[in-house]
Amino acid sequence: MLKICCIGAGYVGGPSCAVIAFKCHDIKVTIVDLNQARIDAWNSDRLPIYEPGLDEIVFARRGKNLFFSTDVDEAIREADLIFVSVNTPTKKSGMGAGMAADLAYIETATRRIAQVATTSKIVIEKSTVPCRTAQSMRTILEANSTKGIRFDILSNPEFLAEGTAIQDLFHPDRVLMGCLQTPEGLAAQQKLVDIYSRWIPRERVITMNLWSSELSKLAANALLAQRISSINALSAICEATGADVDEVAYACGTDSRIGPKFLKASVGFGGSCFQKDILNLVYLSEQLFLPEVAAYWKSVVTMNEYQKMRFTHRIVRTLFNTVTNKRIALLGFAFKKDTGDTRESAAITMCSYLIQEHAQLAVYDPKVPPKQIIADLIEPGVGTNEVEVKKHVSICSSAYEACVDADAIVICTEWDEFKMGALDYQRIYASMNKPAFIFDGRLILDAPKLREIGFKVETIGKST
Ligand code: NAI
Repeated sequence: MLKICCIGAGYVGGPSCAVIAFKCHDIKVTIVDLNQARIDAWNSDRLPIYEPGLDEIVFARRGKNLFFSTDVDEAIREADLIFVSVNTPTKKSGMGAGMAADLAYIETATRRIAQVATTSKIVIEKSTVPCRTAQSMRTILEANSTKGIRFDILSNPEFLAEGTAIQDLFHPDRVLMGCLQTPEGLAAQQKLVDIYSRWIPRERVITMNLWSSELSKLAANALLAQRISSINALSAICEATGADVDEVAYACGTDSRIGPKFLKASVGFGGSCFQKDILNLVYLSEQLFLPEVAAYWKSVVTMNEYQKMRFTHRIVRTLFNTVTNKRIALLGFAFKKDTGDTRESAAITMCSYLIQEHAQLAVYDPKVPPKQIIADLIEPGVGTNEVEVKKHVSICSSAYEACVDADAIVICTEWDEFKMGALDYQRIYASMNKPAFIFDGRLILDAPKLREIGFKVETIGKST
């Protein structure tokens, strides 16, 4: 029986390897992590991450050919293929702080593989890494391994999007793989191609050299984020001129060279990847003495920060230039709908700005646990401390509760349950202070209908 080990039971390692187990009953998949609580959750009825369709897949294969464990060494020892799916956050200190990827987790996992492996392995970079990381992994593996053991390294970046991960893993636009263009490298790659080809059409499994594959992942995320910053930049022009950003996006998106997807204006992108991967690309460009290239990509992040600040300023300005002690219902805290992930969520920055303006925030999100919201707001660097958060933030258990006695509602996440048919906005209006404002940061509401009820509505990318 072919055995796969996945190091890192997070948003990528968990779903991507659970899907391999689901699609290939004859492969034993063991997903390991150093975090005992996370593994316990994977082994319980309440999985550690929320992702539509994930429960069904895990519950169908867990204990059969899918296992979750903290015994990293044993899983490495018995595996033929090892996915490295550990986190690669932005470095917080030292060289490249705030830009370069922190590769400490990748290195620790790689050294562990070298130390405990007693047979040859195919090691697969699943994490998003800077270009040429595979070379470092190879050097570490070769310098620390037992004689006679061979390691082949493949790059296989993951393109799933949180919220649609299972759908993306079942029907990906493409699966990307890179290897050294040697007979051994190509043979190792073929083993991984054979696994994916069980459920993905072969023409969607793209192969290339290692460095192209590593860089393609950074490039894809940079291009996606750039589209969001582009439409967000246009949203500012729309608000100032009376153009409507949805109409502009529609007009542009019907050009087949541009395409309609990912042209939705919003409060700004979030998530653990876009900003981190762009900054990584910026750092790489700087290291390569390409300052103009670095500046180009950096502007995508700058525009994102500007968008969050711009929308918050609009809230304060509209509420008569002061939000001191005003109750503001913040609907949504996750970085997008259908996930409980809050990493780099625009809501965090907006809360921080509003707390600094002394607002009273009533936050509700259907999937983010209250203690996560508090933890995010008191993280170093966010700009608010524990005392301020305690004084200015209350967490609510429904949108209705958050809106009672509020002066304003701010839509931060595009959850379906905040849409017009799903929430009774008449009831909400009745429970609010007047004038009752709604700030739609996700373009999910019907402004004319809300105005009929009596709301004052401010929408991103539209003038009032
Ligand atoms: P995560 O933080 O959710 O999971 C990483 C896990 O690795 C953690 O549970 C951590 O405890 C574990 N870990 C770290 N070092 C370890 C070690 N030495 N041994 C065992 N376990 C270890 O991170 P996430 O979101 O799954 O991301 C992983 C990688 O995938 C990152 O490089 C990210 O950029 C990339 N990626 C993430 C996507 C996403 O949507 N979250 C999408 C595509 C790529």
